Amino acid sequence: MSGPPAADGASANGVSSNGVSADGASSNGTSAHGGSQGLRPYALRCDHRTTPLGIDESTPLLGWRLVSERRGDDPTAYRVRVAERPEDLDEGGRPLWDTGRVEDPGAIGVLYAGPALTARTRYHWRLSVWPAGPSAPAEETSWFETAFTGTPDWRASWIGHDPHPLAVMDAPTEGAHALDGHGLAPCPLLRRTFTASNVTRARLYVSARGLYEIRLGGVRVGDAELAPGWTDYTRRIQYQTYDVTALLREGENVLAATLADGWWSGFVGFEPRRAGAHYGAFPQLLAELHLTGADGRTTVIATDSAWRTGTGAVRHADLLMGECHDLRHAADGWELPGYDDSGWTPALVTDADHGLLVASVDEPVRAMAELPARSVTRTGEAVHVVDFGQNLAGRVRLRVAALPGGARVTVRHAEALDAAGRPYTANLRTAAATDVLIGDGREHTVFEPGFTYHGFRYAEISGVPGLRAADVVAVALHSDTPWAGAFDCSDPEINRLHTCVEWGQRSNFVSVPTDCPQRDERLGWLADAQVFLPTAALNADVAAFFTKWLRDVEDARTPEGGFTNVAPRLTGVADEGAPGWGDAGVIIPWHLYRTYGDPRFLSRALPGMRAWIDLIHRHNPDLVWRRKVGPHFADWLAPGTPTPRDVVATAYFAHSARLTARAAEVLGERDTAHTYHRLADDIRAVFTDRFVISDGETLSIEGDTQTGYLLALAFGLLPEDRAPAAARRLAELVESAGPALLTGFLGVALAAPVLDTYGRADLAHALLRRAEVPSWLFPLRHGATTIWERWDGWTPDAGFRAPSMNSFNHYALGSIGEWLHRGVAGLDQHPDSTGYRRLRVRPRPGALTHANSRYLSARGTAEVRWERRDDTFSLRVRVPPGADAEVYVPTDEPGSVRESGGDPADRDHLTLLRAAPGHTVYRVASGTYHFTATAPGPAAPATAFAPATALAPAPAEHAPAPLTRVGSPEESTP
Ligand code: BGC
Repeated sequence: MSGPPAADGASANGVSSNGVSADGASSNGTSAHGGSQGLRPYALRCDHRTTPLGIDESTPLLGWRLVSERRGDDPTAYRVRVAERPEDLDEGGRPLWDTGRVEDPGAIGVLYAGPALTARTRYHWRLSVWPAGPSAPAEETSWFETAFTGTPDWRASWIGHDPHPLAVMDAPTEGAHALDGHGLAPCPLLRRTFTASNVTRARLYVSARGLYEIRLGGVRVGDAELAPGWTDYTRRIQYQTYDVTALLREGENVLAATLADGWWSGFVGFEPRRAGAHYGAFPQLLAELHLTGADGRTTVIATDSAWRTGTGAVRHADLLMGECHDLRHAADGWELPGYDDSGWTPALVTDADHGLLVASVDEPVRAMAELPARSVTRTGEAVHVVDFGQNLAGRVRLRVAALPGGARVTVRHAEALDAAGRPYTANLRTAAATDVLIGDGREHTVFEPGFTYHGFRYAEISGVPGLRAADVVAVALHSDTPWAGAFDCSDPEINRLHTCVEWGQRSNFVSVPTDCPQRDERLGWLADAQVFLPTAALNADVAAFFTKWLRDVEDARTPEGGFTNVAPRLTGVADEGAPGWGDAGVIIPWHLYRTYGDPRFLSRALPGMRAWIDLIHRHNPDLVWRRKVGPHFADWLAPGTPTPRDVVATAYFAHSARLTARAAEVLGERDTAHTYHRLADDIRAVFTDRFVISDGETLSIEGDTQTGYLLALAFGLLPEDRAPAAARRLAELVESAGPALLTGFLGVALAAPVLDTYGRADLAHALLRRAEVPSWLFPLRHGATTIWERWDGWTPDAGFRAPSMNSFNHYALGSIGEWLHRGVAGLDQHPDSTGYRRLRVRPRPGALTHANSRYLSARGTAEVRWERRDDTFSLRVRVPPGADAEVYVPTDEPGSVRESGGDPADRDHLTLLRAAPGHTVYRVASGTYHFTATAPGPAAPATAFAPATALAPAPAEHAPAPLTRVGSPEESTP
């Protein structure tokens, strides 16, 4: 086992996908302290975040990355000290917690195990890392701060605006764009004045049932969008912490909050909006401002009946319907001292329930990129269609020079245009996705909604004559998951495909991983997230994001213990999870553990994993999973013959049972591991028995579909000697279809990796290059800038598919992104490794002439750059300190291999493992390497189907890993 977190570096500010920071840079909020020029730690993180403000975790994970310019410059030991006063971190100081020197060459993090942390306190921590030999340790310092911990002592009440009780409302029918007709109430404004003097430290803790934006002294606090984020508000409500010291002034100050319905009381998913149907009827605020003076005394300003409330320009705001600002209602200056709020009413205090409040564990949604208009086309009298050139989730910011009183500007959003060049909105279903500005005669207005978001590439703007491109910008919103991966290769279309995959991720990681950002759905579907996670985790550091969402998955579990289809749970889709959907509750924690090395992903998930397997087992004692599912989605949206449901379900049953066993093994729960390994073995046997017909040479799986073979091979369900026959049949089916995939959401993610595993990387490349339906390049050649929900969402012959389900921004089919990094570029983690302790570098060039993958792993930067020029193959590899790698140099002539121009046999830190047909394999220590060799001949389909790698988890006999430590030496360490 080894350890965690996360990308420092580049949050994706701007649209470049290459926002990966250079190694060795000091991360935000951390400071170097002595140390060598060789091995050094950087990117210190607490619970996968940089200097988080306001955590409530009692055993936070303190993690780091490593960098060195030297080969084999690996850590041997570390020491972590934690103290309230920075000077207590120095020699002779009295830290609160000191690990002492821990000999642990694999460590990249440690779970805090000192005295209980005090609420609302900043802790400084210093990491020392020793290289081999007598050198002094390299050191780096960072901090984290607690919010409400232990027994939380909140004083604030939930307050709101007098709710005219909302009438029972149904969602408007398709196509309805009634601007104020959604039954939505104006957004409440809440203000409180107070005086402050000699404040040295001020912290604001805020949450809402609904959405909030809060200002102090007229200045917006923080940059979180759609805060406090979506959870099942009947189970858990997040709050955020802000350092507002710099916003306070001596004397009178004003705290001013705007609330909106958001997920709490607005339209959510495809369910009709009935007052209180989801969570609540009207939005409410909860906030505490803690002001600490030089004398150390703290005063608290909390939400209570002393707050005043009114309404202003925002007449309604809804995630699906859009937002309306009527400037005639603006309450100018309401957020500043001196405003006369005597006409306002005292805030309504609803309750003082603090039981569900938790500190947020992920970074919020933020405005992550701005895209200028690519073109502006006049389509009518004061009507223009703006093309931003990119499908995205977010909103439009519009500058209007002058708007007469009562004049109306309307912004409608669409992913596509119809044949007449008008916004195509039928596929939004009931989501009106329309923002409105009503003027009051003032000049120079900037209109940007704050409490909604839309999925769009085009905006139709009515009411602004002579609209100029310079007056509009698209603002992309998504959860701030620091970008960690970059890929490119010699084929521009594959690079564009990768960009589409990235934008699918940006558009759909909005507080929860959603299926799509545009129609009246936007739900956290579990299978979509499961199939896309391996890709997502190569594009960005998603550790904190999924830490949060796994809590949603846990909160959504049914009374019988089952995982659901969507999380957060919705009343209308609260059934037990379908095969492949519910299983995400097992698969996702396992993948996160392997990627980031944080054992809490497993320790927190294991009870749920077990309950899920037990539930399926209880209802299906003969081990063929037929009963106890809600809806069965099978291999969702597969274009070909459907894969039999029992085959899909039983394959997932076996896979989840195996992963549950492996999770128990990692956690040292040997009996549990044994139980679930045995169950997985039994289901595997039943699978073969019931669904597989084989006569030695040939093999067929019931249904004879691509997905049937993919599941069986990926999940290791066939006897080892039978797998090659299954792989042959799979290849035949793929070839005879085009070559093409006839898989849906579940099968598609497995296709390239499985074909590759069984020696058919050539077929995986052929699928990548295919440009007819079904394929990835077909949408691209027809203007796609994101991944479509359906392979044929639009075709020249049939036009748009039925609008009832036709999203142009669904990431599920984008799961091919994983193979671009792991396969095409060849940057992979060894199957036995955790936290990138061992890499496997194995390019699959196909007909390409170069490919690069750079990935900011939990341990540090890993990188592969290969190039084929004339008859020479050049392969550059970077392995972070503390890791090693197996490097497959593609060549048929082992004797031609050179490393940095010399004979590899003369090099330290490099061992020849084997020379096999097609590649020569080395084990290399950490560091950078440059191999060259005579390039192999053009890729030919393999004749033998011997698996090149084992995808299926082998029944493991690994030693259990200690729970309190992340980063102890791993089983696979030589
Ligand atoms: C969603 C999918 C989801 C599916 C369940 C659809 O409406 O958009 O992405 O997984 O339902 O089958």
